[in-house]
Amino acid sequence: MNRKRVAVLISGRGSNMAALIEAAKRADYPAEIVLVVSNVPDAGGLATAAAAGIATATVDHARFGKDRAAFERALQDVLTQHRIDLVCLAGFMRLLTPWFVGLWPARMLNIHPALLPSFKGLDTHRRALEAGVKLHGATVHFVVPEMDSGPIIAQGAVPVHDHDTEAALAARVLAVEHRLYPLALRLVAEGRVSVVDGRCRVEGASAPDTILLVPGDRG
Ligand code: GRF
Repeated sequence: MNRKRVAVLISGRGSNMAALIEAAKRADYPAEIVLVVSNVPDAGGLATAAAAGIATATVDHARFGKDRAAFERALQDVLTQHRIDLVCLAGFMRLLTPWFVGLWPARMLNIHPALLPSFKGLDTHRRALEAGVKLHGATVHFVVPEMDSGPIIAQGAVPVHDHDTEAALAARVLAVEHRLYPLALRLVAEGRVSVVDGRCRVEGASAPDTILLVPGDRG
């Protein structure tokens, strides 16, 4: 099998990165995580990746000041050196320019902790609680220049409980993220995801025939 060479871009603890590394340990997984790049020198995920024997690199955005283009050229150089096929953003907290995004059409994925197109941006769990939604979740999508807006590859949903705290809801969603991202990357790496009219079609995928009602009816 010709496994896709994947770089994971992080800025922090890297739990989604760790989930991808874990999934890619399986010999039948169609992608291998060959590189982890952080824009934050002391990101916790760098140590996790190194401990797993994966090459790491830091491209510190602060070194480039306001020169976003120079930062992205440095990032692209590292990806080129490692012959990367697919890029996974996993808690990567930099906005990318149309130039950089355009280098990776339908080859760069992002995970967002909400059911897009609801709750783009930051503080998704707090905003979901404030809005009183009964279902919340996570989305993996292809990256386009507009933030949190690309074609949706896969989503996972969880119930929101009446007395949820932001932390409790975040933990419930994070558990979904850790299953969702390996699934989405697998589908893309297998070449089963195509973008038609701005929407993803996934070849040979079936959805479970499940209805999630919240609140449940005890009667
Ligand atoms: C995750 O909730 C991800 O969806 C969001 O940032 C968080 C990163 O967490 N984009 P981790 O670094 O993967 O643990």
